[in-house]
Order: sequence, then structure tokens, then C-alpha cells
Amino acid sequence: MEHIKFSLLQLSDTHLQAAGKRLRTGDSGADGLKKAIEKAYGIQEKFDAVVLTGDLVDRGSVDEYRELKAGLSLLPKDLPVFFCLGNHDARDAFAEVFGSLEASALADTSNTHYQYSAPLFTFKGQVMRLVVLDTLEPGKDQGRLCEQRLQWLRQTLSHYPNDRIVLVMHHLPFLTGSSLFDSMVVDERRQLDDLLADFKTVERIICGHFHRACVTQLAAIPVVVSPSTVHAYPLSYRGRQHEALVIDEPAGFTIHRFIDDSQRAYWVSHFVQQSPA
Ligand SMILES: [Fe+2]
Repeated sequence: MEHIKFSLLQLSDTHLQAAGKRLRTGDSGADGLKKAIEKAYGIQEKFDAVVLTGDLVDRGSVDEYRELKAGLSLLPKDLPVFFCLGNHDARDAFAEVFGSLEASALADTSNTHYQYSAPLFTFKGQVMRLVVLDTLEPGKDQGRLCEQRLQWLRQTLSHYPNDRIVLVMHHLPFLTGSSLFDSMVVDERRQLDDLLADFKTVERIICGHFHRACVTQLAAIPVVVSPSTVHAYPLSYRGRQHEALVIDEPAGFTIHRFIDDSQRAYWVSHFVQQSPA
């Protein structure tokens, strides 16, 4: 398809467990990841990059990150893979298996958070750039963007005034109306909204965390939330035990295609459902 200039495969909330273990829902993160990769490559034969939007593993252990690394070996060897951390992740264990950020173009200089930016491709002289935020606050399920992280974002966006930016974060910077997830969104939603309003370069925000697809906007920027590759949470717990992990919808993933239609060029995001777990 000649007008597809770039394909970004988003795999979210992979929740890998250590070998032989399963989630309390009975699902296997490794099985979900494998199904997602196979389904994605059944749809198109080539992707240009992959982004994993947090909750890479379930309990933040080194063993789980090793399983994730093994699961990702199904991808073509030369395919760039970008990681973002979520509330189930642990920075030290992740770094032990996947390395630290030293090599990145503009890593968070504080080295406290896993934030970085990386160019994806160049289109008509403009760089399309991923800017990845770290909303993880150890020991908490809520998302945080403390002053330090927001300052880094402002500095990074200011550093690339001519690029087109895709902002990546695990937690949602908005409420959805889901009683389970609305207690876990980014605390500093208003600050992020104010900050982004100062930049016209961010053209998409992509998130995970919610384990189901949804779309909204922040500072007039589309926010696209990907399903999880392991399982979907219900939108409503009506008539159910709130804690009950009822899984009655398929898992999935998202393909973001950058389309040049000869009149304009833009991202189109496709939500894909996997077969039920
Ligand atoms: Fe998750």
C-alpha cells in the first residue's frame, strides 16, 4: 500500500508472568503477546516500529522481563522496539534485562524516570518523533507526572519545535466513567493540558492501562487508548462484584498507520481484536 508511509504497532499491557505462571484471570501474558504478534503479521507483512505502552510485565520481576524478552523474539530482529513503563513495572528490574537509557537521544537527565525521545521517520523534511513519558509511581496504581517529569516534557518539546510529535504514556490523562479505572488516572491532568496547549507540535497521544480501546482529546490533541494483548476489562461492573475480574470481551492491539493521501498526511489508528482468551 503505497500511501502507508509508516506503520507503528502498539502492544499494550502485555502483563508477562514468570515461566509457568498465569494471571489471576487464568490468562497467560505470553500467549496473548504471541497471538497479537501473529495476528498483526497476518494483517500486514511489515511494521516499521513497535511501541509497548506499559504494564510490560505483571509484578515487576526480572524473571518476568526475561519472559517478555523471549516473547518479543518473535518480532523481526531489526525492528525498533520502544518501551514505556506502567504501574505494574519496576524500573530497576526492567533496566536489568533491557538496559538503561544512556544511549537515547534525549533521555531524562535526572535518570530517575524512564523518559526519552526518539525519531521515528522523516516525512517531507520533518521528523516524526516519539516522546515517551514515565507515569509510574512505585507502590501506587495511580499515574503521576511530577514537576520534574513535566519540566522534562516542556524542555523536550521546546528542543524540537519543527518536529511532529507522538506522545506516549501508560496512564490515562482523563476520566472514562469506569469506576475501576477512574481512581488510577494521571493526577496532574490539568498541568499536562496547560503544558500541551503551549505546543502545536504534538499530534497524537497514545496510552494503554485501560485494557480496552477508547478515544478522547487533550489540549485539542487526539488521545488514542489501545486494548491490552492479554485481556479486556469490562466497561461496567453493574450487577457484578467490583473486584471480580470478568473477562467477556477479546484482547487486542492497535496499528497506527501514517497515511500520505497526496493531499494531506496523518495518522489513522486501527483497533484489532484477538481471538478470545
Ligand atoms: Fe494493565
